[in-house]
Amino acid sequence: MVLEFFAMEFLGSNILSIDQFDRKDIDLVFKTADSLFPFASRQKITRVLQGAILSNMFFEPSTRTRISFGSAFNMLGGEVRETTEVEATSLSKGESLYDTSRVLSGYSDVIVMRHPDVGSVAEFAEASRVPVINGGDGDNEHPSQALLDLFTIQKELESHKKDISSARIALIGDLKYGRAVHSLCKILMLYENVSIKLVSPSKLKLPEFLVSELQKKSISFIETSDIKEGISDVDILYMTRIQEERFDSSSEANKYKGLMSLNQDIYTKNCEPNTVIMHPLPRDSRADANELDDDLNQNPNLAIYRQTDNGLLIRMALFALILGVSDKIHETSSSVNWFSNKS
Ligand code: NCD
Repeated sequence: MVLEFFAMEFLGSNILSIDQFDRKDIDLVFKTADSLFPFASRQKITRVLQGAILSNMFFEPSTRTRISFGSAFNMLGGEVRETTEVEATSLSKGESLYDTSRVLSGYSDVIVMRHPDVGSVAEFAEASRVPVINGGDGDNEHPSQALLDLFTIQKELESHKKDISSARIALIGDLKYGRAVHSLCKILMLYENVSIKLVSPSKLKLPEFLVSELQKKSISFIETSDIKEGISDVDILYMTRIQEERFDSSSEANKYKGLMSLNQDIYTKNCEPNTVIMHPLPRDSRADANELDDDLNQNPNLAIYRQTDNGLLIRMALFALILGVSDKIHETSSSVNWFSNKS
């Protein structure tokens, strides 16, 4: 896997990997996302994508990624079609990704796709006549998640008068199979003075190609399987779920559940005050896993729902940039708040 950075032309582009982004691109996404806040919070409405169609093709379980992409598109005035199971599509009849893509791209203006196979979304995008966004391909990448995570990290740090340039971040849990963490690691490497703690069971370490990329870029990092060491002296804790669906069996996955768990007591005893707690979600709240205990729900440093809210802004920004309407939204917007009209 090559990690190359090149300036990105958003209009009409696929979003397949964080490798496509440089810092200027990220700043543009974040600036656009910030400008869309009045629309995401329903203070303003826009129909700038009226008549446009998003096909949301999710061939793996999803709650927030699928719904937030769909809601983001609706909030810009577009329509959403979706499929949530391979069995409900002609892929189950042996149709190739190529054919599915060629056909669907005739019905849509943009496609978001999640699929269990690494590289499948890129293969699908090759055949598509409209832009394709990777909503997660196997254990490979989840670029929109990394963008919303970095956006959240920056905002959380700002609120504590810190910034990303020298941030200390711990990535914790299943670093081997977690695509969210793979994309996040790539995006963090664009900030050369960050320092990273890679905290995982020894069998679930970050893949070698990412570790050597960290070395090549001289990013300061350590690897440890000791959670207490991992969560001390950092600004951000990024917890992750054991990716059970990527293991050969659930009994294999079960060996690792519960090894990297955080609760209020462990947090109080080991973390600096105001250490921010993040998780891409879903957190596995079953007793044997419980990587992020419910007793942290009242902790003001728990940023998981700020992350999910930010996901909407980031996904609206991606659509606006890819479909070339980011400058038009403000022209066509109406300041009428139709929710307040209803009451
Ligand atoms: C993540 C995913 O699907 O990779 N979830 C998400 O999209 N927010 C993380 C996970 O499933 O553990």
